[in-house]
Amino acid sequence: MAEKELGVLVHGAGVVSTQHIQAFNKNPHTRIAAISSRKLASCRARAEEAGLRDVSFYDDYEKALRHEGVDIVSVCTPQHVHAENTIAAAEAGKHIVIEKPVANSLNELRMMRDAVRKAGVKTVVSFVLRWNPLFETIKAMIADDALGRVYYVETDYEHNIGSAWTGYQDTRTKTGGVSSMLIGGCHAVDAARWFAAPGRYETADVTEVFAYSGGWRKGSNVEFNYIINEFRRIENPLEYDGLEVFIMKFDNGTVSKVSVNNDCVMPYKFPIKIFGNRGTIRDNRIWSHKFPGQKDWVELPTILPDSASVEHHPFQGEMDHFVQCILEDRESHCNLEDAVNTHEIIFAAQRCYQTHQPVKLPLSQAFSL
Ligand SMILES: NC(=O)c1ccc[n+]([C@@H]2O[C@H](COP(=O)([O-])OP(=O)(O)OC[C@H]3O[C@@H](n4cnc5c(N)ncnc54)[C@H](OP(=O)(O)O)[C@@H]3O)[C@@H](O)[C@H]2O)c1
Repeated sequence: MAEKELGVLVHGAGVVSTQHIQAFNKNPHTRIAAISSRKLASCRARAEEAGLRDVSFYDDYEKALRHEGVDIVSVCTPQHVHAENTIAAAEAGKHIVIEKPVANSLNELRMMRDAVRKAGVKTVVSFVLRWNPLFETIKAMIADDALGRVYYVETDYEHNIGSAWTGYQDTRTKTGGVSSMLIGGCHAVDAARWFAAPGRYETADVTEVFAYSGGWRKGSNVEFNYIINEFRRIENPLEYDGLEVFIMKFDNGTVSKVSVNNDCVMPYKFPIKIFGNRGTIRDNRIWSHKFPGQKDWVELPTILPDSASVEHHPFQGEMDHFVQCILEDRESHCNLEDAVNTHEIIFAAQRCYQTHQPVKLPLSQAFSL
């Protein structure tokens, strides 16, 4: 393994950047070389919180990309600038961590993919739940045939994202956020693709999707905050539906139902159901042909994906994995190429809302919304 210490530029000094900084700071092969953002004060605050010294700050991304010794760029800005940030980093020859969602349109997605292919740099998309201990356990059990052939997967992102989130004003609009499924529900789409594939580090691709949307929060001046258990009046409501439900068919025959529920009046939940022809998983409970004498569900004592807090998310696992990929010159299972299907599914749903017809994937070059 190479001995070189990799320098990291973290771009976008908000909530999620705190976890990227901490994870790269703890990794023995990386160091935070620079932080860039709109405001220098935000860069300084992140460095101080993390106890970093010898870090440079920039309010100009192009200059930050030219900082000597930067090998990796972590794109932690709001989603509407992920595409331009990623393309600039790729053109500068940097390996890239891209926060989800990676793009706001099919066109952006394709331009990013082309730039990354041309530059030959490595990427990881922050579908960080793939490193959650329950996800890792389930995926290992599927690969070990505990469920037999998986034929049905249900994953649901139940999180009433609201004005308490620093990113709300950027994402509540149709242009800034696009849809509830794109903003947070993309975690559930990624999870369904992850659990639908038999291999330990394999995802399955969706070939057809049909979607409905609904709920009550679009245009409403009321939101529910589960942290303080209160309904509140707000000035700037969501411009898109809070509820979306997708029915998806995979290339391997597996069927899936995925939902995002931004309108739920309850604390955050991420329920999981996986049905195989030799066993079943419901969250952290399993029924399997591997336990022929079982009389009740076997419960896995592990960490569930049951918190929306970024401190709870396994960013250390994601970043350690990405650094290994760079050092060993191999692609991540969670790279930009892999994320294309997830984003195409979500953009295809927008077409369903217009035509009330299922959409086949991959989307054609002629596809437009
Ligand atoms: N993987 C996950 O589980 C996870 C969890 C949380 C968030 N995320 C994603 O991470 C991204 C950021 O979310 P967040 O919660 O960290 O939001 P946030 O707190 O609003 O942070 C974004 C930061 O980016 C900076 N910024 C905004 N516009 C910019 C621009 N045009 N150029 C440069 N910097 C800009 C702002 O910094 P200033 O203070 O300098 O203005 C802001 O603090 C989103 O895409 C979100 O979906 C992912």
